[in-house]
Amino acid sequence: MAYYDDPNYPGNPNPWYKDYTWYGGYDSNDASYMREMPMPPTPPMPCPKPPMPPMPCPMPPMHPMPPMPCPMPPMHPMPPMPCPEHPMPPMHPMPPMPPMPCPEHPMPCPKPHECPQPDVDYYTYPSNLEDALRLLEDSIKGERHDVMYYDCLMKMAPAEDRKIIEGIKEDEKRHGQLVRTVYCEMTGHTFPPTPPMEIKPPKSYCDGIQDALYGEWMAMERYRKILYAMQRRRHINMLTEIYTDEMKHASKLNYLYTRNECWEKCSPNK
Ligand SMILES: [Fe+2]
Ligand SMILES: [Fe+2]
Repeated sequence: MAYYDDPNYPGNPNPWYKDYTWYGGYDSNDASYMREMPMPPTPPMPCPKPPMPPMPCPMPPMHPMPPMPCPMPPMHPMPPMPCPEHPMPPMHPMPPMPPMPCPEHPMPCPKPHECPQPDVDYYTYPSNLEDALRLLEDSIKGERHDVMYYDCLMKMAPAEDRKIIEGIKEDEKRHGQLVRTVYCEMTGHTFPPTPPMEIKPPKSYCDGIQDALYGEWMAMERYRKILYAMQRRRHINMLTEIYTDEMKHASKLNYLYTRNECWEKCSPNK
């Protein structure tokens, strides 16, 4: 008998149990009987759960808290000053200095060295101030005279010289204004207007140039003396301008004297 006909072989029908239809006629060793048993009814499917509510929006990320500042360390109280074990002794006043002994032969004071001095000292302020004010008054009158004199000389001059002489005349006008300003600011008084003066025309144009040249030299000497007594920078500047203008005038007159060959034409008594 083949193994597939053996009733005791698992899975083959066993005739001994053929009347037990509920059993299926299988051998007790046959595990496949379970496949013949009716399946129990499946339980009803549970009701579907309601859908899950949507997840809430995520919370914004929390900013990290700044770190707490480190607490200041507690101030330690100042320790008390230690008491000196040995108190300082009181200061004793210094004994008075003994008087200096009188020298038996005191040294004589050396006499100051005497430097040679100029015969006329108009260099030192304020001793030169009075003369300087008087020279300022002379200058106001002199500048007025010079304006009129150069106006006269310009009329006698050849055409090519007139522009130079006119320039000198304009300078003399400005000098008169500047000197009046310096005088008023130093004295607090306005110098009275200078009345018109009569000008005697020179004998010739060359004589006129020569006289004007002498006048410029005198003006230079006068203004430098005034300058020695000036204290304010403003007045020094004004006097320096006038003084250097007079030097320019002398130089221009020398030029005109030469260009007109005045050494041949001036009066013999000059
Ligand atoms: Fe002048
Ligand atoms: Fe002048």
